[in-house]
Parts: sequence; C-alpha cells; structure tokens
Amino acid sequence: MSIPVIAIDGPSASGKGTVAALVAKQLGFHYLDSGAIYRVTAHAAQQRGLDLADEAGLATLARGLDLRFDGVEVYLDGHPVGDAIRTEAAGRAASRIAALAALRTALLELQRGFRKAPGLVTDGRDMGSVVFPDATVKVFLTATAEERAQRRYKQLIEKGFDANLAALVEDLRERDARDASRASAPLRQEADAYLLDTTDLTIAQAVARVLDWFRQARPN
Ligand code: C5P
Repeated sequence: MSIPVIAIDGPSASGKGTVAALVAKQLGFHYLDSGAIYRVTAHAAQQRGLDLADEAGLATLARGLDLRFDGVEVYLDGHPVGDAIRTEAAGRAASRIAALAALRTALLELQRGFRKAPGLVTDGRDMGSVVFPDATVKVFLTATAEERAQRRYKQLIEKGFDANLAALVEDLRERDARDASRASAPLRQEADAYLLDTTDLTIAQAVARVLDWFRQARPN
C-alpha cells in the first residue's frame, strides 16, 4: 500500500496549518507546510536581489534551494529564517511568485520528497490537485474572509507584529483572488475533496472531522 497522504488545501489564514499540524501529531505522521516553501523561496529571491517576476531565475533558484524544516522552524542555507517569512509582506511576495508555472514545477519534486512513512499531512493550495493527486484524503478547509482576518490578526499580534483588521480583510481578499484566478494550479475545491468550513468550528472539532475522514478511508 502506498504511503498515506492527507492533503488540506484552502485560502490564506483559514487555519489549515494549525489543523494539519495537529492531525499529523495525532497520527504520528510527518507534516509539510507547503506555503512556507513559497515564502522561503520569495525570501531567498529577495536576499539575492532577484526580480520576483523573473520566472526562469526563480525556477533555477528553487531547484537549488538548501531548505530544511525542523518543527515549525525553516532553515535556509543552514540558517533559521524565523518570523521573516511570516509577515503579510512575505505572504504577498510568496503569492506573486506562486503564480509562475515554471517555479511551481521546480518545487514539485522537493514537496513530493516529504512523503515518507508512516504518512504525511500537508497543507497548501494544490496539495490534493497537483502535488499529491492520489492523496488518501483531500480536504478543502475554509472560513469566511472576516473570520480568517480575525484569526490572522490574533496571530500577528501574538507574534508582536503591528496589524490592522480592515487592511487584513482587504489583503486576504486580494490574495484569495490572485490565488484563485491564476492559470497554474488555482486555489479551488476539487471534486473529490471534502469541504470543511471552520467558521463556526473549534480547532478540535475540525481536527476530529479530518481524522474521521481518514479513518473512513483507511479503516484498521
Ligand atoms: O499558506 P501560506 O499563506 O503560507 O502561502 C503563501 C502563498 O503561497 C499563498 O498565498 C499562495 O499564493 C502560495 N502557495 C501556493 N501553493 C501552495 C502553498 C502556498 O501557491 N501549495
């Protein structure tokens, strides 16, 4: 039997990362935050003075990335990048380069390399549609833009960043629109993905729902 994958896709700040990490912990599976890969790639490009529209240059950069995850920390060239990739500006830069098809292709192999026994839980925009089309369970996890902005606001304040709620709602809408309208791997619910609207759910309820779907798919 192939190594199981739980693919959780959805818009920005929907809480998919939190849910995915907890599901992984419960099952003792590996966890991949694919958004962090796009964020680190944009960060590396900016460090090297690359234009964020330079598709070929970014694809080459992506193929040679020296990237390592250790829990929530991401290491680039052996150095922790810390919260530098967690700002809204870093998210916007990631979303810009994520629209480039050659870059997405360059990152495929790196992402698929995270599929290791006993299993993988991963979150992003195209985990179920493109990166792991044979995933055991596919989930499209979402919440209203207002609820997501509230969650992102709390997260940023807790990290000690400045935040403005109205600006966050605008930013999320803009990012969703770009992620959903791009030609390459657009954000959307796949026909074979379960819809999980977490607007009125607690984190524990969302996690339990995903675990149920996984057990239905893989009874034992
Ligand atoms: O999920 P996160 O907000 O960290 O992702 C940052 C950006 O990276 C997203 O807005 C999206 O454009 C891009 N992304 C993507 N495909 C993924 C994960 C993230 O295009 N699988």
